[in-house]
Amino acid sequence: MSTSASLSFARDIRPMFTSMDVDHMKKAMDLSDRASVFQHAEAIYESVSSGSMPPPSSGEPRWTPDMCAKLRKWQEEGGQP
Ligand code: HEM
Repeated sequence: MSTSASLSFARDIRPMFTSMDVDHMKKAMDLSDRASVFQHAEAIYESVSSGSMPPPSSGEPRWTPDMCAKLRKWQEEGGQP
C-alpha cells in the first residue's frame, strides 16, 4: 500500500460536490455522505469523467482530470472519512 497520506472524504472529496449536486441527486444517492459516495463511487466516476454529470445544462463546470483522479484515488484507498 501507499505510504503517502491518504485522501479524506471531508477534506478532499465532499468539497467537490456543490449544494446543487447534492440537492439534485438526493433521490438516487447522498453526495454529502461518505458511505453513499463510496458505494456509488464507480458510477459517480463514470459520470464525472465522461462529463455527463453534472449535466452541461446545469451550468456547472465539468470536472477536471485532477478532480476525477482524486475521486478514483480516494476510492482505491478504501474511502477514508
Ligand atoms: C452516479 C451516477 C449519476 C446518475 C445516474 C445521475 C443521474 C441524473 C439524472 C437522471 C438527472 C436528471 C436528468 C438530467 O438533468 O440529466 C440528474 C441531474 C443532475 N445531476 Fe446527476 N447523476 C449521477 C451523478 C451525479 C454527480 C456525481 C453529480 C455532480 C458531480 C451530479 C449532478 C447533477 C446535477 C447538478 C443535476 C441537475 C441538472 C439540472 O437540473 O440542470 N450527478 N442526474
